[in-house]
Amino acid sequence: MLRMLAKSDIGQMLAIENAAHIAPWTEEAFKICFRTGYVSLGFEVDKKIIGFVIVSVQADECHILNIAVATLFQRQGWGRKLLEYAMLQARQKGAGIVYLEVRRSNSRAISLYRKMRFQLIGERKDYYVTVAGMEDALIFAKSLSSS
Ligand SMILES: CC(C)(COP(=O)(O)OP(=O)(O)OC[C@H]1O[C@@H](n2cnc3c(N)ncnc32)[C@H](O)[C@@H]1OP(=O)(O)O)[C@@H](O)C(=O)NCCC(=O)NCCS
Repeated sequence: MLRMLAKSDIGQMLAIENAAHIAPWTEEAFKICFRTGYVSLGFEVDKKIIGFVIVSVQADECHILNIAVATLFQRQGWGRKLLEYAMLQARQKGAGIVYLEVRRSNSRAISLYRKMRFQLIGERKDYYVTVAGMEDALIFAKSLSSS
């Protein structure tokens, strides 16, 4: 089941986040998202959240701020569905374009974005911290009017 997430879901979101990301968001970062009113969507299986996406929609732009699927549920189509629903919400709120940033080394996520017809539009040099130093961000965009 897809549903809007709330502050009370942060515990479950953090568990997924910590297992999925190299540099996970802190609890405070999630709190800020809910305080700011960003859109948070999650899928539940057996009443447990198995993946979430957080987006900001301002004026005609949507930014994917975070997306993660629980390790056991990865590669089963949930990430794609989360993105599709997030883009639907964004379009309903008047966004015409969606942007996201991803680590250059994150080939799984990049493969998903390319499959969903996101276009590479730029790079940010040494944007992310890694254990070995710094890593570039790739910036992808997709028009919402054509999807
Ligand atoms: C990126 C992520 C959200 C994708 O979610 P998912 O539910 O596993 O992805 P899906 O099952 O919807 O996969 C869709 C496509 O993504 C790509 N993909 C997903 N997992 C992959 C893997 N392990 N290896 C290669 N490609 C992969 C494939 O192109 C796949 O399509 P296919 O199965 O038809 O080949 C998930 O891997 C994740 O949570 N990763 C850790 C957090 C993260 O990196 N977030 C993105 C930050 S920008």
